[in-house]
Amino acid sequence: MALHRTNGELFIERRSIIDSVFNSFGKNDHASRVLRRGRRFSRITKHKLSRWIFILTALLSILLTFYGLKMFFQAKMESKFSTVPIHMQERNLQDNVMRSNDGNISKENIVVSDVGNIPKQKRRKHYPCEVGFLDSVDGFIEPKDFMNFVQFSLDYVDHEERTSKNDLFEHRFGGHQTWEERENSFYAKNQTLHCGFVKGPVGHPSIGFDVNEKDKTYMHRCKVVVSSCIFGSSDFLRRPTSRLISQYSKDNICFVMFLDDQTLSKLTSEGNNPDEKGNIGLWKIVVVKNLPYKDMRRTGKVPKFLSHRLFPNSRYSIWLDSKTRLNSDPMLIIEYFLWRRKAEYAISNHYDRHNVLEEVLQNKRLNKYNHTAIDEQFNFYLSDGLPKVDPLMPNDPLPSYVPEGSFIIRAHTPMSNLFSCLWFNEVDRFTSRDQLSFAYTYLKLRRMNPERPFHLYMFKDCERRALVKLFQHRTLSAPPNIA
Ligand SMILES: *[C@@H]1O[C@H](CO)[C@@H](O)[C@H](O)[C@H]1NC(C)=O
Ligand SMILES: *[C@@H]1O[C@H](CO)[C@@H](O)[C@H](O)[C@H]1NC(C)=O
Ligand SMILES: *[C@@H]1O[C@H](CO)[C@@H](O)[C@H](O)[C@H]1NC(C)=O
Repeated sequence: MALHRTNGELFIERRSIIDSVFNSFGKNDHASRVLRRGRRFSRITKHKLSRWIFILTALLSILLTFYGLKMFFQAKMESKFSTVPIHMQERNLQDNVMRSNDGNISKENIVVSDVGNIPKQKRRKHYPCEVGFLDSVDGFIEPKDFMNFVQFSLDYVDHEERTSKNDLFEHRFGGHQTWEERENSFYAKNQTLHCGFVKGPVGHPSIGFDVNEKDKTYMHRCKVVVSSCIFGSSDFLRRPTSRLISQYSKDNICFVMFLDDQTLSKLTSEGNNPDEKGNIGLWKIVVVKNLPYKDMRRTGKVPKFLSHRLFPNSRYSIWLDSKTRLNSDPMLIIEYFLWRRKAEYAISNHYDRHNVLEEVLQNKRLNKYNHTAIDEQFNFYLSDGLPKVDPLMPNDPLPSYVPEGSFIIRAHTPMSNLFSCLWFNEVDRFTSRDQLSFAYTYLKLRRMNPERPFHLYMFKDCERRALVKLFQHRTLSAPPNIA
């Protein structure tokens, strides 16, 4: 065998080296004894060694084959893993973003914590990216004319009475808006519209998202708000990262976390007790009684969309989902996403899906909601102007028809407030999956008010990831009722 011959040749060469070394020792007895022993040794090992080398080579090739297979399977498993919902893949990547000298962040500047483990392309696209915040909030003032948006005045339906027309009157938080009222509510003009918080006739038990008077007074004083909620113990409490938030913001911004009784007792039992001022960290805890919906996710849409109603005197609000921790200064966020863009409403696009049909399919695939109800909603939207697949027009007002609504930045302007009410009403009337109704609501509002612009800024999902740290939802409680 070629292998043997090579080894043999190698060995001959080696022996001659050994011989020449021993020869150089001279002719004394000791040296020749050593030489003889050396020769005997080499004669014995000549055969053994070649056999060993053969065995080792064989072992090595078996090992290599095995490793090759293992790596192949690993690669297969990883590519399978990358189709797992993104929140399961979340790592603490926010901390690993480095700024380049010019303040730009390019993909090359993103450092991954597990060095040597080159991230897959699929994961890479969910990394945070540069948000060009100002360095500090010093000397911050709202730009002159910033609030110079379309002006009109909105009033809200405050209560509904039982009438002869609605015999089977069931008090609803969102009220009983007729189709005609709904159609008219899309006009950007002085009007009174449904926007949650509708009280029932005297004697009906309240389902009004009620907070106590003291908290209400506090909320009415807020000018700038950061808010979030946990209902039904669906999440842990994530405190905003205090060291990343300026003293100015701490002094001037209300950080309000809405909880129900159940969640508060759960948090308390885990040692998260509000202090004497009712705060846990930066969060002011506000307990909500008489929740309007059995579905806790739907209840969560009340503070999410209706911050202008909960904080009627605030000029700005930032909403963040409780699965996220705020990692940036709210005033810098407002400056960057609203003032600098001259926008009155800012929301990020979705990291994966950009048209409503995909979102419909995904909701069904993950069984997020009653399929019939999803179809009814989608078909109605298609019949009322929503393109089935977004048309990819160069000047399309929306870069994506699907938002990632876990982070919303708002100026409380008439147009922004109107949009919030309209979107809430869709969630109240149809499914609570707000990603299904966003584009429809936006497009219809624009269509019905061609002369009255609505300045919505849809930013990149990677920017959202730079502002907050993402976590998974708490899994210990039973999944919320989705009926
Ligand atoms: C950041 O990068 C963009 C595009 O590469 C470039 O246009 C811009 O000038 C850069 N910004 C700075 C501050 O260098
Ligand atoms: C709309 O309401 C504002 C303030 O209430 C009022 O000043 C204005 O005249 C109204 N506009 C119309 C067209 O009624
Ligand atoms: C699903 O939605 C449809 C239409 O809204 C409704 O008729 C049906 O009862 C719902 N099914 C369940 C299980 O809730």
